[in-house]
Order: sequence, then structure tokens, then C-alpha cells
Amino acid sequence: MSLALIAPGRDGKAFADCLHQLQPGLDIQVWPHLSSPDTVEFAVCWQPPADAFKPLTKLKVVQSLGAGVDGLAPLLPPGVTLCRTVSEHLKRDIRDYVLLAILANQRQWQTLAQQQRHQQWQQTPYRRTGTVGVLGLGELGRFVAEQLAQWGFSVKGWSRTPKVISGISCFAGIKTLGDFAGELDYVVCLLPLTEQTQGLLNRDLFQKLKKAAYLIHAGRGAQLIEADLLEALANGQLSGACLDVFNQEPLPRQHPFWRHPQITITPHTASITSSQDLAAAVYQNYLAMHHGKALNHVVDQTQGY
Ligand code: NDP
Ligand code: OXD
Repeated sequence: MSLALIAPGRDGKAFADCLHQLQPGLDIQVWPHLSSPDTVEFAVCWQPPADAFKPLTKLKVVQSLGAGVDGLAPLLPPGVTLCRTVSEHLKRDIRDYVLLAILANQRQWQTLAQQQRHQQWQQTPYRRTGTVGVLGLGELGRFVAEQLAQWGFSVKGWSRTPKVISGISCFAGIKTLGDFAGELDYVVCLLPLTEQTQGLLNRDLFQKLKKAAYLIHAGRGAQLIEADLLEALANGQLSGACLDVFNQEPLPRQHPFWRHPQITITPHTASITSSQDLAAAVYQNYLAMHHGKALNHVVDQTQGY
């Protein structure tokens, strides 16, 4: 029984080393050099080539190297279980990213940094509070929403199915999007990419937010209509945006977002799964598969997340 890592452009050695610490001698095959694909039952993947699973005739489980699984489900042979990787570090890192983006915006950190570059001593007023809306109340969104509420923000959350979460005003379903968005100073996207969430960050949504609201986007690039963001920044409906995910990654050098004074760009680093965390999560699921037990973070392939 073997395990394969299929993640073009990623260094498989660190992951394999961590996994070997958990089980010395485990057969780990790293794409593109799969020595015996017909023995692979478990594959760990990130943006695999479309035909990557064809030679894996015994494949039972695919685990995404990240928390998102967009693009993976259509490639899977029928009957293969799809899982994703979520760790406590991942949740805390996303929480820190969102908090950092909000605080940096409240305290105008970028303006202050610019002033320093010009030796300019100028006190600028800042905001203290605000209402934050979190799109997606799953593993990440719920944790972020709860932590922001504990931090003292007024927090609203939006999900597909109804939720009751202490300290959060919860909204569910597309019909409630307007009520969710009303009065938001900050909107944070932590949604998975599905047919329903594609293009959701658009002019209609921006117009429902408080004037000069701020967007923090760490879901997936295709959820944002880029032209609508540029328009909302130009007409003052949004005052700025912090973007971690893009339609095309890496973001092309000539893309207008790079030099936009109201946009902060991070290169899909809101949270990164370490090789240790990945190996631990994969090993647990690998053993569960081996012993016929329930796997962690199984994706509902009918919903796409
Ligand atoms: P989960 O699957 O745990 O949660 C997804 C949430 O989105 C759920 O609350 C779900 O609602 C909600 N949702 C899904 N579809 C809809 C819809 N059509 N309308 C309203 N709500 C919807 O995912 P995670 O929290 O673990 O991760 C979310 C996403 O964050 C990932 O898919 C990935 O794209 C992104 N991500 C980004 C990272 C980065 O570094 N930038 C790192 C990790 C993840 P319900 O609860 O009702 O099912
Ligand atoms: C992701 C991740 O899904 O980094 O974006 O986990």
C-alpha cells in the first residue's frame, strides 16, 4: 500500500521526511516519478495535472494539500473519497491575517509607513470599532468570526445553512445576503469556490455595504469580479481591499492590482499548511483508511466543499 504526492512545483521532500518520521519505510511516491502507480491507494494533491489519477488504478482517497478543494472533484475517478487539510495552526493563522488587515486599516498603517519614508510627522485620526461580516462560517470563518467577536468587534456571519453562534448575528442563504451586508464596515470572504460562490464579490454586494467599507478576501480569486472592485474603489463605495487570492496566481506582473494605492496584496499566504501539519493530518487519514475508520474533513462532493 503506497501513498503519492502529486503537487507540481512543490518540494515533496520536506513532506516525505515528516511522514517518514511518523512511519519509517512508508512507500511515498512523488509525482512525476511514480515508481509503481498501481499500488497507490492514497494521494495527496495540489493542482494535479488533469490526467494524474489515470494510472492510479487502486486509488481510494485523495487529500487536498490545502483547505480548499476547488478543481479537484471533477478529476476524481468515481468512488474516490475526497478530503481536505485543516489544522489548528491554519485557523489561527487565518484569524491573525484577518485581524492584522482590519487593524492595519483602522490605524492606517500604510499611510504611516509612507509618512515615515518622507520623514513626515503627521498624526492621523483612526477608527476604533466596526462591524465585520464574515462570508463562510465553516472551519475557518466560524473561528475568525468568534475570535473577532471576542476581540470586541460587532460580527455578522453568512453561510449556506442556518447557524446559531453565540455573539454572532448569523444569516443563511442567498436571500439574506442583503441583510447580512447592510451596515458592514469590513467584509471578509472565507468561502469555498463553488458554482454558487463564483463571482459573489461583485458590484451588487459592494453597494449593500456601508459606504467606504473595506474588503478582506482570502477565499478564492474567482469569487471576486475584479472590474467591480476597481469600480467600487474608484467611486468610494469601498475604501480599500486586502487580497490574498487571485484569478491567476501568481498575480501577473502587469495586473492593475499591484500598483493600486488602495489595494494590499499578499501572495496566498493568509495561512500556509506546514509540512509537519500536512504530514500529521495525512497520516491520520491514511491510517483511518487502512483500518476502515471514518476519515477527517471529508468533502461533500455534491456540494463541492
Ligand atoms: P468549510 O467547508 O469548513 O466552510 C465553508 C463555509 O462556507 C461553510 O460555512 C458553508 O456553509 C459556507 N458556504 C459554502 N457555500 C456557500 C454558499 N453558496 N452560500 C453561503 N455560504 C456558503 O471551509 P473552510 O472554512 O475550511 O475554508 C473556506 C475556504 O477558505 C477554502 O475553501 C479556501 O478556498 C479558503 N482558504 C484560503 C486560504 C488562504 O491562505 N487564503 C487557506 C485556507 C483556506 P455551511 O456551513 O452552511 O455549509
Ligand atoms: C488553501 C490553503 O486552501 O492554503 O488555500 O489551505
